[in-house]
Amino acid sequence: MRKMNVGIIGATGMVGQRFISLLEGHPWFTVTVLAASARSAGKPYREAVGSRWAMPSPIPAAAADLVVLDAVKDKEKIAASVDFVFCAVDMKKEEIRDLEEAYARLECPVVSNNSAHRGTPDVPMVIPEVNPEHIGIIPAQRRRLGTKRGFVAVKSNCSLQSYVPALHPLMDLGVSKVLACTYQAISGAGRTFATWPEMQDNVIPYIGGEEEKSEKEPLKIWGKVEQDQIVPVSAPSITTQCIRVPVADGHLAAVFFSLEHKVSKEEILRRWAEFRGEPQLLGLPSAPAQFLHYFEENDRPQTRLDRELEKGMAVSIGRLREDSQYDYKFVCLSHNTIRGAAGGAILMAELLTAKGYMD
Ligand SMILES: NC(=O)c1ccc[n+]([C@@H]2O[C@H](COP(=O)([O-])OP(=O)(O)OC[C@H]3O[C@@H](n4cnc5c(N)ncnc54)[C@H](OP(=O)(O)O)[C@@H]3O)[C@@H](O)[C@H]2O)c1
Repeated sequence: MRKMNVGIIGATGMVGQRFISLLEGHPWFTVTVLAASARSAGKPYREAVGSRWAMPSPIPAAAADLVVLDAVKDKEKIAASVDFVFCAVDMKKEEIRDLEEAYARLECPVVSNNSAHRGTPDVPMVIPEVNPEHIGIIPAQRRRLGTKRGFVAVKSNCSLQSYVPALHPLMDLGVSKVLACTYQAISGAGRTFATWPEMQDNVIPYIGGEEEKSEKEPLKIWGKVEQDQIVPVSAPSITTQCIRVPVADGHLAAVFFSLEHKVSKEEILRRWAEFRGEPQLLGLPSAPAQFLHYFEENDRPQTRLDRELEKGMAVSIGRLREDSQYDYKFVCLSHNTIRGAAGGAILMAELLTAKGYMD
């Protein structure tokens, strides 16, 4: 297979940096274009990102000297020179919606981390192990956009990347009610302790817009493709509280749920242990071998110890037990900028490639 040339829109940001790091040495994709705002355009990447580089490994040599392009002004040039782009930008929602559709109309597929298109009925919002079949909506989206190749596919919010996968193998038992409290890392806001010192020794009980996304997006992910749109499911009813905690990376969730057909704890553990999704069956390069890991120890998963499990692509679960108000409760964890952002988007791009949507 020919290696594909890939652009990163928002390359200087927290998620953009993670893309550059994770794609170093990728067997299918080579990063050839980096783009950001007019503030960064025209500078070598090393200079444009400067002291904001927050990844544990140094800037890959191949990226360091690339001259950053302007994601808006240079879009024709970018779209013509790559096979597809990853997009993670901090702009107004309408601007992002227009920018992503503009790339798609230029016949350049967009795999996006942004929320702007998550509600668009013909844009698939994919967790590759959970709803890979939703990419089947792409031909309908192409008809609307009038494109042959271009489309937009999006990732869901990072807050739900632990509890939606954990609940997924139980959905046929009729998951009726879910309560989730999330404890979210500061990198989820594109920040570090250096740029957000107020977060040291502190908890902030509010993340703008996060609870709405955490309650609504799972219903589309579990929805059905019907003709030219994805129709969300109406159950389970989900309520959440999303809280910012002094952790660098890793979103943890405390989850309570009820089932229409209650099964034993052993049956739930068996379903988690045996769960395999399309990425595992296809052997995609970024797929974790075991997506859902259950820890028997009472004090796991822990963010610092367990967020890097399977290169940050697995979901860690622990403390499954019966509850007095709901049927069961458990705790789960996923790495927000890997599985919850760049890594999840790379896995989605691998799925789209394997299924022929990038041809
Ligand atoms: N962090 C996470 O864990 C996470 C998880 C899932 C999804 N997301 C989503 O991913 C997106 C990016 O998040 P982030 O945390 O990486 O943000 P960030 O660190 O603030 O980075 C924002 C990026 O957007 C670029 N940008 C800003 N204005 C622009 C413009 N007018 N034109 C082109 N590029 C522009 C910035 O470029 P300059 O450097 O040139 O300003 C920078 O590269 C957001 O939509 C966020 O909601 C983040």
